Amino acid sequence: MEKQEIRTFGRRHGKKLSARKEWLMENLLPKIAPNESETNEILEIGFGAGEHVRELAIENPGKIIIGAEPFINGVAALLSAIADENNSLLKEYKNIRIWPDDVRLILNKNSYKFDEIWILHPDPWPKARHEKRRLLNHEFLKLLGKNLAKNGKIIIGTDHWGYYDWIIDQVSQTNLVVNTDEIEIIKTRYQTKNMAQTTQPKYLVLTNQS
Ligand SMILES: C[S@@+](CC[C@H](N)C(=O)[O-])C[C@H]1O[C@@H](n2cnc3c(N)ncnc32)[C@H](O)[C@@H]1O
Repeated sequence: MEKQEIRTFGRRHGKKLSARKEWLMENLLPKIAPNESETNEILEIGFGAGEHVRELAIENPGKIIIGAEPFINGVAALLSAIADENNSLLKEYKNIRIWPDDVRLILNKNSYKFDEIWILHPDPWPKARHEKRRLLNHEFLKLLGKNLAKNGKIIIGTDHWGYYDWIIDQVSQTNLVVNTDEIEIIKTRYQTKNMAQTTQPKYLVLTNQS
């Protein structure tokens, strides 16, 4: 980051990692770092424990998926789920790359052309005094727009409706547009998965203005 960015995430470390996870952090993680010479096609920002990154990897075997997450225990959880008992990468997850830090560090430095950028349940920072910590502000959305391929899309899901409205307001300060047809497709895909939740998530699909 050129300038000092406002921190958009909470703690980076949780409880102590198991010996296996420590090993994976030291040995497997460096081997699957994002690589500029590859065609990186899908990005997931703030993947938590990485369940959705794994889904993306399986659904898109021919594409490289970059997952970015500064919470180290989440990174270790994903590493543990994509490695076999010998701590080698499982075949079905060979297309996963992990950036274990703030995504803005790679987006500001490199120039990617992603077909899809996913952000599921970004931290809502609900208190008014924390609003400045929200990641999806207009500056960041503009940065995402620059890193989209032609016809690329940004997919956002949140069950915090106040944040949803706030994001739409931020989008109006960018060259991005809300693509309502695409929202229906995404909603249908997730509807069944979220049946047990009390607050229904809302989705946004953004594209660059053509
Ligand atoms: C509420 S969690 C949601 C995790 C996951 N996507 C899910 O739906 O379960 C939001 C995540 O975004 C991550 N995050 C926040 N700011 C970020 C940033 N600048 N770059 C990458 N990840 C970030 C946090 O560390 C946290 O794990």
